[in-house]
Amino acid sequence: MYLDSDDEKVLAGEYGETRRKMMEILVALGKVFGAEKFVPITSAQVAGASYKTIGKWGLEWLRSLDARVAVPAVLNPIGMPRERWQEMGGITPDFAEKQNAVLEAYHRLGVKLECTCTPYYINRTSYGEHIAWSESSAVCYANSVIGARTNREGGPSALAAAIVGKTPYYGLHLWENRMPQVAFRVEADETLHAGHYGAIGYLAGKEAGNRVPFFYGLRPNRDQLKALGAAMAASGAVALYHVDGITPDSRVLQERGTDISALETITITGEEIEAIFEERTVDAVAIGCPHCSEEELEEIAGLLKGKQVTKPLYIFAARGVAQAHPNLVGTIEQSGARVWEDTCIVVSPGMDHFGTIMVNSGKAFAYVPNMCGAQAVLGSTEECIAAALGE
Ligand code: F3S
Repeated sequence: MYLDSDDEKVLAGEYGETRRKMMEILVALGKVFGAEKFVPITSAQVAGASYKTIGKWGLEWLRSLDARVAVPAVLNPIGMPRERWQEMGGITPDFAEKQNAVLEAYHRLGVKLECTCTPYYINRTSYGEHIAWSESSAVCYANSVIGARTNREGGPSALAAAIVGKTPYYGLHLWENRMPQVAFRVEADETLHAGHYGAIGYLAGKEAGNRVPFFYGLRPNRDQLKALGAAMAASGAVALYHVDGITPDSRVLQERGTDISALETITITGEEIEAIFEERTVDAVAIGCPHCSEEELEEIAGLLKGKQVTKPLYIFAARGVAQAHPNLVGTIEQSGARVWEDTCIVVSPGMDHFGTIMVNSGKAFAYVPNMCGAQAVLGSTEECIAAALGE
């Protein structure tokens, strides 16, 4: 792997022990995956931020580091809303103290304390940019919907890339690895909502594994694309997908005359999609996996306006998005629902005490049973709100 003279100096420890360690991680990764060189990155998104997932050893490791990030970097959701953790329930003072120590460690490294899986709502990211993001739904969105280039980084490799400002040039950074590998034809009669896209992603991810899917027969909007990719990243390990005529790289493939007719093609029927949905009594409702966009907050506020919830209804959004829309958050919270910033359905211990949780997300549907110890029920946003209102 080619290293320039500056990289060599970093590796020799001339810029400090932390930078040396970070360079070592990146070089090892590059060698394993056959990278010939590094590519500079424009941003990083670092997973491994919730004390629920990294624990004592993760915190100790972070505390041992001493450097500053070289590019804008944000965090993945943490285990609690930073200011309102006592209000959420299920968060102990001990957990809050440890979680704050994790934040302090990242703060010292220069990572922005924006804790979200939707960094693209906060910092503009453009087509063709090389980035190092680690949360699987964010990676899928960046690659597929924006057309940026990132591998599915682990927390340490994303942090290493943030500190060095570069990442090994392999995998999805290279155009030849972004070719479709399996096709899906979706045959569904009715208009599809975000919950349907979560279900399609849940089904497709299981078939696709870590291959690059190409979808025919879909006309999703951006939030529906977000739901589709997040679910595939959870039930499979999809980091990039194309939707015919919609996602930016699908148009490049078309312009270049890439032949996709020979790909294995899997059909997903309306019956298969509907079979994922079931009616069941639930204890709580959670929306915002991935974190809500402005449009989603608007839809939820419209459905809740002037009404009162009868069950816990938790909405998750990036701090930057929630704070930019105080009126929408106000309307939602007047109903008794709560908008939580910084945290998420699966990485917060605040969600662990419910028996059955209704979600509108294929990703949450896949993760809630293992991560929260609860049963998951999938519905549309409207059905989720109706369940919380007891309608
Ligand atoms: Fe985001 Fe947490 Fe879902 S990180 S995608 S809200 S599981």
